[in-house]
Amino acid sequence: LIEAASVFAESRRSYRVIHGSLTQLPNKVRNYVEENARLCKPDTIHICDGSERENEMLTYVLRKDGMLKKLHKYDNCWLARTDPADVARVERLTYISTPLKRDTVPTPKYGAKSQLGNWMDPEDMDNELNMRFPDCMKGRTMFVIPFSMGPVGSSLSKIGIQLTDSAYVVASMRIMTRMGEQVLGALGDGNFIKCLHSVGCPLPLTSPLHNNWPCYPKMTIIAHLPHKNEIHSFGSGYGGNSLLGKKCLALRLGSNLGKEEGWLAEHMLILGLENLDTGKKRYIAAAFPSACGKTNLAMMTPSLPNYKVTCVGDDIAWMRFDENGVLRAINPEAGFFGVAPGTSMKTNPIAMNTCLSNTIFTNVAETSDGGVFWEGLESEVDPNVRIRSWLGDEDWKKDNSDRPAAHPNSRFCTPAAQCPIMDPLWEDPKGVPIDAIVFGGRRPKGVPLVYESFSWQHGVFIGASMRSESTAAAEHKAKMIMHDPFAMRPFFGYNFGDYLKHWLNMGEKPDVHLPKIFHVNWFRKDADNKFIWPGFGENSRVLDWIVRRCDGEDIAKRTPIGLVPQQDTLNLAGLETPVDMEELFSLPKEFWQNEVNAIYKYFDEQVNEDLPHDIMHELHSLEARIQDE
Ligand code: GTP
Ligand code: MN
Ligand code: MN
Repeated sequence: LIEAASVFAESRRSYRVIHGSLTQLPNKVRNYVEENARLCKPDTIHICDGSERENEMLTYVLRKDGMLKKLHKYDNCWLARTDPADVARVERLTYISTPLKRDTVPTPKYGAKSQLGNWMDPEDMDNELNMRFPDCMKGRTMFVIPFSMGPVGSSLSKIGIQLTDSAYVVASMRIMTRMGEQVLGALGDGNFIKCLHSVGCPLPLTSPLHNNWPCYPKMTIIAHLPHKNEIHSFGSGYGGNSLLGKKCLALRLGSNLGKEEGWLAEHMLILGLENLDTGKKRYIAAAFPSACGKTNLAMMTPSLPNYKVTCVGDDIAWMRFDENGVLRAINPEAGFFGVAPGTSMKTNPIAMNTCLSNTIFTNVAETSDGGVFWEGLESEVDPNVRIRSWLGDEDWKKDNSDRPAAHPNSRFCTPAAQCPIMDPLWEDPKGVPIDAIVFGGRRPKGVPLVYESFSWQHGVFIGASMRSESTAAAEHKAKMIMHDPFAMRPFFGYNFGDYLKHWLNMGEKPDVHLPKIFHVNWFRKDADNKFIWPGFGENSRVLDWIVRRCDGEDIAKRTPIGLVPQQDTLNLAGLETPVDMEELFSLPKEFWQNEVNAIYKYFDEQVNEDLPHDIMHELHSLEARIQDE
């Protein structure tokens, strides 16, 4: 009877497996694939092995479909142009679904809408998903992507299986994660994170595509089910929405796992800083909101000649205390999905050199000699080439166009291993020891270049009260100062109040070496709306001060908001253009009073009863210090 049933099931199966074999998958994976093949009804199934040959086949298909164009100027580099309606993360369509709402978001006061995540009831979520996924892959191939976040087989790593009907996603996941056969070996019978993704355009199409880019913006949803370790993403092919290992797994579900298992999943770069005079090396983790300088800091070429920066990661850090009480961090990713505009040989030569081969560019402009162009490359592009903008404007010229050549959130997707300054320990399964944690944001006014927290608790408060000017990385249009605690506002996987308690608890563990906590601002502007601080490589001067503080040097002085450099302790030797240090470090009293009020309002309305008392206590103390000044 059993045999008859399975023959029956076999005969009802509408798909063909065209690459790999279902019978060789671990049972749990096979069940997951079959279940969703029955739901989504793809024509064919392709089980990814991660090989070079497979990748060549996929890029061939993507070229044929007009989704990728070869960039002849470089080696194995590709250009994708999306539907202009699918260019960034969609925060308002990103949901966490838990049985209890309060597990996901604090209850805002006065019936306000939560800015700390969108919750949906599991039953409603079920309905939403059922409106979208049945038959959504008809006519298409379902790819099965086994991937590891973190080195394959490391005890700190997590394994996911992503099912997707986008070959662009497969090619990108191959760069951003460790992907393929070896992951299935490491997984065995173990559990994995279930990641289902569809662009939502079954074939035949019912309306024409834009730029040959399948997506369904009107029905897009990015759903997380932490209690089931599931992610469901529908309607968007764009990176942050579709490469599910990144923001969805490594941050949103990751932060949940971290809370349960006693570690931290953070929107942070990790860099190594070696003092070439003393040979001493330190590692720093830093959280800045999207498009606020993580990738640039992580790949920095220091202007101070006695320092060398090495890169461990540019976007996400998973950190936990080891048995010796040392906070250790791994980069769960294997590639960089970096903001293109602003990247140049002048600002970030390391990134430029990294992405000259094996890279997928999305929504940048192209040059008539088969190269790339974006805002920031004006003085580095051959003046004789013609530029075709990301929207397809031929012979685009700055002077007679009111639209930028590249989309402000255009990206390069490039393998980390190609980066010439990767840290020797970047794939060490143990992770690297973190000495300092740095928070920062885009603050045109009032916030000094650098300050240090008085304590761990005060540092957690500084992370909680982070604010930053909005950027193109998400759908927010106007430039306004938004609260973005820990640079995690779009990425919290659970109640922000509980997140703060988790951070405070970390500081109370016995026998741990707590990193020092700092805040930086590269983006303060003068009366002419110009950046006061030159930034980029010059930020090494700030890192120098930070590690000297970690060494216990007496170079800090107290201010109401924290510890700032004593007179002349920030190394400015050889700084090319003079900087008004007075203005850069000034702390206008009225500005800080307003800042305190804004934080009160935010904590009160948004975090409400879930705000830990210790954090409110820090805010009271800050207010009093500013008042007494
Ligand atoms: P995500 O990848 O979205 O999380 O962003 P990110 O934090 O990695 O931002 P990234 O380093 O890509 O920087 C974004 C933009 O800020 C780019 O246009 C950079 O050129 C610019 N930028 C980075 N560092 C500095 C700096 O020190 N000073 C100034 N003025 N601009 C900077
Ligand atoms: Mn990011
Ligand atoms: Mn980045």
